[in-house]
This record gives sequence, structure tokens and C-alpha cells, in this order.
Amino acid sequence: MLGSILVLNDRGGVGKTLLSHHLLATALLEGMPLRVVEYEVNERLARLFGPELVEHRRISQDFVNLMGAGGDGFFEFWDNIGPELQRGGRLFDFGGNISQWFFSWAEVSGIDYYIGDGSRLTFMVPVTVDLASLQTGMATLERVAVIAPGAKRVLVENGNSGPFTQLEDSHYAKRKAEMVERENLSVISMPACTAPAWARLTGHRLDQVATMNRNDFVKLGMSPPVASRSLIVIYEWLRGMQQALLPYLTDMFRTTTAAIPASPVRIGRNKAT
Ligand SMILES: Nc1ncnc2c1ncn2[C@@H]1O[C@H](COP(=O)(O)OP(=O)(O)OP(=O)(O)O)[C@@H](O)[C@H]1O
Ligand SMILES: [Mg+2]
Repeated sequence: MLGSILVLNDRGGVGKTLLSHHLLATALLEGMPLRVVEYEVNERLARLFGPELVEHRRISQDFVNLMGAGGDGFFEFWDNIGPELQRGGRLFDFGGNISQWFFSWAEVSGIDYYIGDGSRLTFMVPVTVDLASLQTGMATLERVAVIAPGAKRVLVENGNSGPFTQLEDSHYAKRKAEMVERENLSVISMPACTAPAWARLTGHRLDQVATMNRNDFVKLGMSPPVASRSLIVIYEWLRGMQQALLPYLTDMFRTTTAAIPASPVRIGRNKAT
């Protein structure tokens, strides 16, 4: 059984798709057969990587109405994700308020039938220093613990809106420290990409950017000095993310034969033998 990664936080623009992009690029550079499912209004990763590697599930207005109605259509849509999680090998980028619906489904649909205690799942939750993103992010981590108590939970501090050092004495920092100490939470950071040329590179695959040289950057319209400086910054940034993410991908592709328990998982109780 392969693992799955879910990238989620219903706050928009916190870096879910960029994190998913880093994960896919790292997997490709390592020769791992990762497939991505992106829930987005418009294709993002699917446009860059093609439908073989990234399946785009469109968040249209009709889809939002279907979700909001909460009827049979809602359950039919989400019932398909159980077998997908059981099969593994995929990353789900839950853009556009998707994760609230996933939790609503999971909490009443016996997700443990497919995932057991969730030990083959990794939930990655990007946050920025923006208060709303911290609130939805921490609430998301707590909801994960309810539906998948054995899952790995990773808080991804995205420095794109400002440094996390400014939150040192905050309620957030205290709760985070407690979760790291007592609840096995992992924390990684995704620094802001400060390369002068980043804006020109956002439409490129990061696995390809990782192998570009100065001439490639110049061909994209950068002056040689800008290209040289960008190369240094981007290379460091990519390498840091690859190092932080590779252990989770390696774990995901470690095959296990663990059988899925047929009966509901009892949280916090050992089975008598
Ligand atoms: N660490 C970072 N360095 C540079 N750019 C970043 C960083 N984090 C996010 N961005 C940029 O901010 C924008 C929003 O990020 P992204 O699209 O990944 O967010 P999202 O959580 O997927 O949003 P949505 O909820 O709308 O799907 C993108 O243009 C992305 O490239
Ligand atoms: Mg996105």
C-alpha cells in the first residue's frame, strides 16, 4: 500500500499549489512516480505538467453549488476519494475551500474503512503570518487528528507574507510548540523566493528550473547579472525545499503490506490480545 499526501488549508493564497509543485518537482527529480490531483478553478499544475502527471478537477460554480447543497451529489463526489486514498501514490492539492467539504464527508462516511488510522497519509498545511491563515491552518490540523489519528501532520510555514519570527510570543507559537512536543506535529519552512527573476520563472516547471543554467535565464529575458544572482538564490531555495520534502516522499513510496482493519479504529485504546 502506497501513501498519499494531502495539501490543504482553506485560506486562499497560502502556498498550497507552490508546495504541491515543489513536491512534484522533487519526486520527478528522484524518479518517483508521483501523480497530483489539483482542485482549482483554473488549471495550474496541470497546465505545466500535462494530464499524465496532474489531473485537474475544476471548481466551477456548478460544483460549488453541488457542494453547498450537501445532497446525494455531494456524497457521490466524495465517496470516490476513499478508494483513491486506499490505492495511494497521489498528492491532493485541495484548493478553493475544498478541505471543509472533505472533512464533512470524512466525518460521517467511515473513512477508516479505507485508511485505517491514517498512518499512510501525510497532511501538509501551509500557513503564512496572516492571522486568518493561521487560524484555518491550526483548525485544519486539529480536524485531521480526528479523522486520521495516525497520520503525519506537517505545518509548513510559508515566509511569503513576512517572517515567522514576529510571532514568537503569540498564541500560535505556543500552540505550535505544544503540538510539536505532545502531538507529533512536524514543522518545515518554505522561505519566500527572493530571486530577482522569480516573477519570470513562475510559469516554469521547478524540476526544469533546477537544471537551468545562466544562459537559460538570459534567454528568458534576464540580464546576465540578474541571471547570475537569481541562479544562486533559486538553487539554494530549491535545494532547501527538496531536502525538507524528500523524507515525506520516500515514506510515501515505501510499500507496506499492512492490512486495513475491517472494524472501526478505536482511538486511544489498545486492542486486547
Ligand atoms: N514562498 C513563496 N515564494 C515565492 N512566491 C510564493 C511563495 N508562496 C506563495 N507564492 C506565490 O503566491 C501566490 C499564491 O500561492 P499559491 O497559488 O501556491 O497559493 P494556494 O494556497 O494554492 O492558493 P489557492 O487557495 O487560491 O489555490 C502564487 O503566485 C505563488 O507563486
Ligand atoms: Mg492553489
